Amino acid sequence: MLLETKVVSNGIKYSTLPTSYVRPVTERPKLLEVTDCEKVPVIDLGCEDESFIIQQIGDACRDYGFFQVINHGVSEEIMEKMLKVADDFFTLPLEEKMKLYSEDPFKTVRLSTSSNVMKETVHNWRDYLRLHCYPLEKYASEWPSNPSTFKEIVGKYCIKIRFLGLRLQQAISESLGLEKDCIEKILGQSGQHMSINYYPPCPEPELTYGLPAHADPNSFTILLQDTQVSGLQVLKDGKWLAVKPLPNALVINIGDQLQAVSNGKYKSVWHRAVVNADKPRISVASFLCPSNDAVINAPKELFISGSPPIYRDYTYADYYKKYWGRNLDEEHCLELFKN
Ligand code: OGA
Ligand code: NI
Repeated sequence: MLLETKVVSNGIKYSTLPTSYVRPVTERPKLLEVTDCEKVPVIDLGCEDESFIIQQIGDACRDYGFFQVINHGVSEEIMEKMLKVADDFFTLPLEEKMKLYSEDPFKTVRLSTSSNVMKETVHNWRDYLRLHCYPLEKYASEWPSNPSTFKEIVGKYCIKIRFLGLRLQQAISESLGLEKDCIEKILGQSGQHMSINYYPPCPEPELTYGLPAHADPNSFTILLQDTQVSGLQVLKDGKWLAVKPLPNALVINIGDQLQAVSNGKYKSVWHRAVVNADKPRISVASFLCPSNDAVINAPKELFISGSPPIYRDYTYADYYKKYWGRNLDEEHCLELFKN
């Protein structure tokens, strides 16, 4: 394959969508049927009433599997810098970016495209830079040194996001009626990965996706969205809702591991990213993950009410291998771990 056509952020202006990106008619996004979501929960983490925060988080995790947070402790300045350096990276010359290109999902730094190029039949209109972020001392030295500020900015952003993530994990634990550190004890020391997503303008957005419907395989995800360009959609009661960017907010979505740990009380929500014809869109997803050897199971306190365990015990390493061995479009990976 030619260097230019491996990725979609290649500077080429397409007038029609290349056929390998065209979805069959029944699988298209039907953009006109999508409504803007007015009611997506917005939770103010600066609120002094901690028990009110926990209650709202619990409601959002049960009813939506996603929510937005404001006053979350990650400064406006660092969020802006993060988005800017992401843009600078993706607008580097193609040859420079392609030095990092890889299709191996287990590499700790890689530029890639679509979702799982090795397994899928139709591609997605997305490139992404995937980084391992924790421990920072171990991984940051492998990150791109071009743009020259990349390591410093992304490093700072990751530290802030981790702090927020661990606070949310405790609140989620409490919202299930568990001790603050209960989930942390099960999931072990959290891993942290980042996917910097870049969706170039697409000639025929009705025919394809940036990311098709999927659930995230990790514990939960903290998403920084482009401030201007929308594209994130969430499935609620069988309908796709657009989550428009809200200034200074971060979007949180529950992933498969919190669905398992909560014994299905909290939903690992289906979401997708659609593309548009006019502007590139950037998003930065931070994935908090269990440690690889963590044995995932729901704590016994959750069975007191009589609901039997839905999932069998498994390690996160097993789950991750299974997830990447599939195509994103297949059934929910968690289904394969049911009792
Ligand atoms: C993801 C994801 C959504 C977006 O990276 O897993 O769901 O809006 N991204 O880019
Ligand atoms: Ni996702």
